[in-house]
Amino acid sequence: MCGIFGIVTEKEQNLGPILVDAARRLTYRGYDSVGAATISGDKIDLRKDAGRVDDVAARYNLQEMTGQRGITQLRWATFGEPSQVNSQPHLDSDGDMVGAHNGNVVNNVELREQFMAEGMTVRSHNDGESCIHAVERYIDKGFGFIDSIRKAYDDLQGDYAFVIGRIDDDKLYAIKKGSGLVVGIGEGFTCVSSDLPSILPLTRKVIRLEDGEIITLWHDRVELHSVKDGSLIEREPEIITEEMGAVQKGGFAHFMLKEIHEQPKVAAELLHFLENSASVQVILDKIKKARHVYFIGCGTSYHACMAGSVYFAKYANTAVIPVLAPQFTAQYLPAVTPEDVGIFVSQSGETKDVLNALQYAQAAGMTCFGMANVIGSTLSRVTEAWLPLCCGYEISVPATKTLTNQVITFLYLATRLGRRDVKALDQLPVLMEETIAHTDPQVQALVEDINQWNDLYSLGYGITYPTALEGALKFKEVTYAHCEGMLSTEFKHGPLSAVSKGFPVFFIAGPEDVPLIVSGINEVTCRGGRAIVFSEYDERLKANASDLVTIPTSNAAFASLLAVLPLQLLSYYVAVARGFDPDFPRNLSKTLTVD
Ligand code: AGP
Repeated sequence: MCGIFGIVTEKEQNLGPILVDAARRLTYRGYDSVGAATISGDKIDLRKDAGRVDDVAARYNLQEMTGQRGITQLRWATFGEPSQVNSQPHLDSDGDMVGAHNGNVVNNVELREQFMAEGMTVRSHNDGESCIHAVERYIDKGFGFIDSIRKAYDDLQGDYAFVIGRIDDDKLYAIKKGSGLVVGIGEGFTCVSSDLPSILPLTRKVIRLEDGEIITLWHDRVELHSVKDGSLIEREPEIITEEMGAVQKGGFAHFMLKEIHEQPKVAAELLHFLENSASVQVILDKIKKARHVYFIGCGTSYHACMAGSVYFAKYANTAVIPVLAPQFTAQYLPAVTPEDVGIFVSQSGETKDVLNALQYAQAAGMTCFGMANVIGSTLSRVTEAWLPLCCGYEISVPATKTLTNQVITFLYLATRLGRRDVKALDQLPVLMEETIAHTDPQVQALVEDINQWNDLYSLGYGITYPTALEGALKFKEVTYAHCEGMLSTEFKHGPLSAVSKGFPVFFIAGPEDVPLIVSGINEVTCRGGRAIVFSEYDERLKANASDLVTIPTSNAAFASLLAVLPLQLLSYYVAVARGFDPDFPRNLSKTLTVD
């Protein structure tokens, strides 16, 4: 979801390669347009368009851009279609300021009208442009840069971060309100970005901004100010020690495939972490005493919540309500009391829907815990305690390794709460390794046939119901086909009418539910449909299924998790067969910081 990067150096130089590389490192967030601007003396060079980073960089020769300061932005369209004019960065009316934003200015439409009525030149429909005019409005009235940004902050409603600079100056300025912003301090330069991957190749010395803070960047220092009263804020930089290796594809064709293969390794690291984490007991103690427990997330993270609620009921005798974050606010908030506990789950830790629900829940006095992958994310900072997913960077927009580690975290918590043997979970990484190795050729054999269909179903029951929903989401996300996840028993209540000759239906079968799944399979196959079953080897399934993709034999909890892996692989291979880039599905974003 949009990403910004800005850099300040001492004197004019070739900034193109740095800007293009930074843009590439922001692509994991999802985008449809790319732009770059450089500033030197009294010149601004602005080049931008809709398209992929490498296409736009080649078409506009971004690599050759020179300047003393540079800004690049990846845009994911919300206000205004993806187009050259709506791409960022944007100029102010007379072209002597340039800037770009990440996030959403929700009063964009009203602001545009005001700016035009005030005689400003508004060129696009994009809300990033409103950030620039909002500053211009006060610069033109004679306010200094910091005060103009502070006043613009009052005018711009929504959650955003933006970076801005002007000619005949040597600085860039940036502000954070709701969207992520990190500053990097290097030898002879400073930079600012929505996220660490674009900063860490340049410097490991960083300052994380809080909401309501403005940063001024010179080439050799930075200064932090509070939006509230303009006062100076002192904050020591931190040194980031995380490895960046995960940001490379490491020999895989796509990040998605690499991340699928990383699952056994990060699962082992997670289990090791959980065994030594003090937060686990803190969370379990609160859950034990809670009146109601909610697991709250969106998309794939919500499916992990669903799996978690099954594990808690089955293995810890504890009823949990899994709920989509906005629905939590709409449905359950009036019933929430301080005796309730919520675990808010988000890979990015920045999903606006989740943070909104969290804010309301905290205001209602609920005890709120977090589960997130991104260290330093909002969710990790504002919850009472949080559990990191220990996955390293997940670059591909489709969540894979973060989903499995979310599910393993819930399984671990349920196992501990139910006083069961957590050591048994240590078998999971090896089982995951075997599952990937064993099912990869099996799913590749299905790709050609599955690729013929644009309508599919993915059915599960009980413990595999969340798996079926996740398989459907992954398939939709990367292949652009319609794939509906459903409880297997519901299929006969309507969707069965869609079945025709060869119509593919995935069944995810848990070892405890085979007889029921066999009935469902036959309802499909006797009408000419193709029942593709993902499960442990079982004679009954083998005899009834059209195809059986076999995972290693273990138990119901593990099977529900392991079956996700071939579904991820199948989605990946079908996307590639269709010529789509599974890492960056169209229209989607890795980090959804808008309502
Ligand atoms: C997963 O493949 C999707 N990209 C999406 O559903 C994602 O899980 C959802 O947007 C929530 O993101 P989060 O985990 O960062 O909160």
